[in-house]
Amino acid sequence: MTFDQMRLSYTRSGLAESDLADDPVTQFRHWFTEANSDDKPAWLEVNAMTLATADTAGRVTTRIVLLKAIEDDHFLFFTNYRSEKARQIAANRQVSLGFHWPHLERQVRIVGTATQVARSVSQAYFDSRPRDSRLGAMLSDQSAEISGREVLQTKLDSLQRQFADTDQLPCPDHWGGYAVNPSEVEFWQGRESRLHDRLLYRRHESSWRVCRLSP
Ligand SMILES: Cc1cc2nc3c(=O)[nH]c(=O)nc-3n(C[C@H](O)[C@H](O)[C@H](O)COP(=O)(O)O)c2cc1C
Repeated sequence: MTFDQMRLSYTRSGLAESDLADDPVTQFRHWFTEANSDDKPAWLEVNAMTLATADTAGRVTTRIVLLKAIEDDHFLFFTNYRSEKARQIAANRQVSLGFHWPHLERQVRIVGTATQVARSVSQAYFDSRPRDSRLGAMLSDQSAEISGREVLQTKLDSLQRQFADTDQLPCPDHWGGYAVNPSEVEFWQGRESRLHDRLLYRRHESSWRVCRLSP
């Protein structure tokens, strides 16, 4: 099969204005619960999201990160503060998040600004991670060029020796969370004949306005 022959029809359901919650975070929680229901495919990480960042020259990069919490209506993810994404966020706080839930024929797109979370929040999440993940965060100079895998193994062996007798691992200063404060959230439901439903919340002063976009 060639690319141009790949085609699916979306027929599962629709999205009407009357279906929506008053605010997009509540609506997101509804859709997230449905995406994460028991009949989701076992391999699907429903909290995986595309994170787009851009520098001040307009150079855009994307990657997948995991949504780890929603707090005070902000979307939280954790990463390395020296990574490429972090350098771009330091220069330009505007980011976009994208979720794709193919089993529901849905996507959610968020536009907002990213801010580093309080140190205590990063520390608490770091402490909740499995030992291997904490060691990985400690040793990885994320986004830096390295000469080969052995660089990572050497650092891991050294950390394993250094912390052999304890599970108290320090959260590195250069590792932590970002909170994305949404200004726009779009809910997209696939429909037949490519006439998809697209309902967009836009922040308007202290409330939200909803409009429908053409597919
Ligand atoms: C499913 C999945 C989940 C990921 N989750 C994270 C994450 O939560 N935090 C993170 O820093 N990188 C995560 N990564 C790795 C990133 O996609 C990326 O490679 C890394 O953050 C470096 O990105 P950068 O060089 O653009 O900053 C994940 C990758 C995948 C495929």
